[in-house]
Amino acid sequence: MKRKHSLVLVPLLGLSMALTACGGDDSGDSGNDSGSSSGGDKAGKVGVILPDTESSVRWESADRPALEAAFKEAGVDYDIQNAEGDAEKMTQIADTMIGNGVTVLAIVNLDSESGAAIEEKAKSQGVATIDYDRLTLGGSAEYYVSFDNTKVGELQGQGLADCLGDEDANIVYLNGSPTDNNATLFAEGAHSVLDPMTNYTVVGEQAVPDWDNEQAATIFQQLYTAADGKVDGVLAANDGLGGAAISILEGNGQAGKVPVTGQDATVEGLQNVLAGTQCMTVYKSATQEAGALAEVAIALANGDEAETTGTTTDSSDNSEVPSILLTPQAITKDNVGDVIDDGGQKAEDVCVDKFAKLCEEAGIG
Ligand code: GAL
Repeated sequence: MKRKHSLVLVPLLGLSMALTACGGDDSGDSGNDSGSSSGGDKAGKVGVILPDTESSVRWESADRPALEAAFKEAGVDYDIQNAEGDAEKMTQIADTMIGNGVTVLAIVNLDSESGAAIEEKAKSQGVATIDYDRLTLGGSAEYYVSFDNTKVGELQGQGLADCLGDEDANIVYLNGSPTDNNATLFAEGAHSVLDPMTNYTVVGEQAVPDWDNEQAATIFQQLYTAADGKVDGVLAANDGLGGAAISILEGNGQAGKVPVTGQDATVEGLQNVLAGTQCMTVYKSATQEAGALAEVAIALANGDEAETTGTTTDSSDNSEVPSILLTPQAITKDNVGDVIDDGGQKAEDVCVDKFAKLCEEAGIG
């Protein structure tokens, strides 16, 4: 399915100018939260389907509130739901949303095949679609809104190298889900940095299905055993996988001695970075990503072109997808405060119990 190829850089109307609707009033509970606006003409209704609550806490703790705030600020009717890791449920949610008058649909696909089918069906019903965070290979979304995911991997690779130093070292890769195109890009970015560093030897690499943290622990245990425990660093693709590796290292008395990477700057990830058991994480502002999605959704709802940063190649058919790719930030013990200062996490959530002193030493809170 060919994508829309127009790449027109047209300054977006300010969010407040894009629509005439007034402020929204929320209804519904978490996991199935619809916002509605009262009064004024509305340019359309935006549906967003988040993937799950297991692969990362980010979707419900960061993305949902940021999306709600962005749509409320713009006075846009919205419906945000979570597919709970079930592709069939995502399909059903999409059908219901379109039946309820959604004119723009954004999805975080659980896999490209189911995502492409959802987008094709929506398109046939005149509903514009957006890939949020994850590119749907072979899909038909009008736009792709995410972070530069290859850059995420590059930051992870460089972060691990900074923690390992120049000594010879054995490294293990715990990659993200094989059904997530982002995971492919994360790994490509990390390898592009680490492979030329010939003092490092890859002694194990495996993708973790569905980013499942329990499977990650089992997989890492197997890789650790296969390497006879001679593992000096772990390139873990997000904080959940990093936490799983750290739990196995703890069992072997190696936590804090073997640097581990992560991503998403979750509360747990930041705590592990402060404790020294995790070498680094990558911060991707949900407010920025949600705000970018809201702007594109509103432009589409208004029948306008959205401002993009360029295009992304869909590796399945080499089509170019108009994209808005944001810049990720590497977070180490030295700049955990940047996440707090940016509102990405709250000090009162991170600096609890034994972490209170670590936060104080880091100048946080
Ligand atoms: C990726 C996402 C990351 C990571 C992972 C787990 O697609 O870009 O933030 O957390 O999913 O959900």
